[in-house]
Amino acid sequence: MNNETNPSHISRREMLARTGVVGAGLLASNLVLPGRAKAAAAPDILRVGLIGCGGRGTGAANQTLSVPNSYVRLAAMGDAHEDRLNQSFASLKKAHDDKVDVPDDRKFVGLDAYEKVFEHCDVVILATPPGFRPFHFEAAVKAGKHVFMEKPVCVDSYGARLVTEVAKMADEKKLKVVVGLQRRYQTSYREALKKVQEGVIGDIISGHVYWNGGAIWYRDRKPGQNEMQFQVYNWYHFNWLCGDHINEQHVHNIDVANWFIGANPTEASSGLGGRQVRNPEKPSEIYDHHAIEYRYPGGIMVSSQCRQINGSKGEVREEFHGTKGVLNLHPGFAEAKDYKGNVLWKFTGENPDPYQIEHNELHAAIREDKAVNNAYYGATSTFTAVLGRCSDYTGQPANWNEIWKLDYRTMPEKVTWDSKPPTMPGKDGQYLLPTPGQYKMKSTV
Ligand SMILES: NC(=O)c1ccc[n+]([C@@H]2O[C@H](COP(=O)([O-])OP(=O)(O)OC[C@H]3O[C@@H](n4cnc5c(N)ncnc54)[C@H](O)[C@@H]3O)[C@@H](O)[C@H]2O)c1
Repeated sequence: MNNETNPSHISRREMLARTGVVGAGLLASNLVLPGRAKAAAAPDILRVGLIGCGGRGTGAANQTLSVPNSYVRLAAMGDAHEDRLNQSFASLKKAHDDKVDVPDDRKFVGLDAYEKVFEHCDVVILATPPGFRPFHFEAAVKAGKHVFMEKPVCVDSYGARLVTEVAKMADEKKLKVVVGLQRRYQTSYREALKKVQEGVIGDIISGHVYWNGGAIWYRDRKPGQNEMQFQVYNWYHFNWLCGDHINEQHVHNIDVANWFIGANPTEASSGLGGRQVRNPEKPSEIYDHHAIEYRYPGGIMVSSQCRQINGSKGEVREEFHGTKGVLNLHPGFAEAKDYKGNVLWKFTGENPDPYQIEHNELHAAIREDKAVNNAYYGATSTFTAVLGRCSDYTGQPANWNEIWKLDYRTMPEKVTWDSKPPTMPGKDGQYLLPTPGQYKMKSTV
């Protein structure tokens, strides 16, 4: 952490907190601030670097700057696109003013921007498209930075293995890592898990996880963009960058299945998917629906569905069936009933914003040097989504151990604006859709 001494960087509220003028109520937080015992000592300031200044990156930076009583500054920003960086900077500056200390020479633009951010920060937020994540995570940990990284943490087997190896390196360096699978930070989910462990629904036999909703955004090609520029800009529609929406979005619910069952599946035994209604005038290589059956140890089966089709039923939730009853979960709601419909337990407490709790707990872990490393489950839950995609793309069962070891890599390590993307359009401007029975699980880089 940087021991910043310039008093102009400290707000009035922070100054009051430092000098002990405010009451215990304001300081009551889960943070133990270095220097609090010594009245006059300035606490260390946590310098944050933001890599990927889009919607979520800006949101995560906002949350990190909102951690109660944590002396934090946004110190550097990096994005592939200058306009996204500038928009993000303007909105964060408006919301947090003196906590945003990013002069122009600490704003970095380009696909190599991430490397330049590290030297100006203690903690880094990684919120680019997920294909880049394993490599950015590796570089951050090698540079000795604590990490908040968004889900999913990879798009292929290679990335899952790399993230797991880098997680070990982070542990060795005592770095703290939080992954943006925010249900793990939501009180209602945490309480529900405790109840399951106490046996409220008996032993889990099966589960159902859903992310069914409408179509996702599409960014039309801008005049003059080459193929790489277009694909990085419109990243959601390219599997090498996004991993398809089973990975990009549905990973949240798949993660809940692994978390509540306490294991990873051994196999995606059956998968169906395709693209039924995506607009052909908006070329894309992602499906618009996936339905997977996952097999877990002990005979537990989880069915998973995700859909991006306008006008169809919206459903984002998880359900577990046990020997004694059924648990239903969605953000803000958790309830267990027996098979006659009697309520066995219902969550009724405070349910603070899990996006904020992620950052509160990360800062606390850094301040108190408490181990936290979500990268392991980040990698296995993301890989579970990849496994499901393997099953519906190929039309074959996908075995965890086989696919984990496989040379299945769709994301190149080095990407420049001039390099050729791993997928290219045909003469008709369309991208080849993965076709069951023909799709091969192989490296494309
Ligand atoms: N936890 C959640 O609920 C949640 C919600 C939304 C998004 N996300 C995740 O956050 C990530 C970003 O999503 P988003 O909605 O903010 O997308 P976005 O397109 O709004 O932002 C991505 C940003 O990354 C930049 N970028 C692309 N490649 C880059 C590179 N190599 N280096 C630096 N910058 C690069 C883009 O220019 C863009 O500004 C995704 O992984 C997504 O799944 C998580």
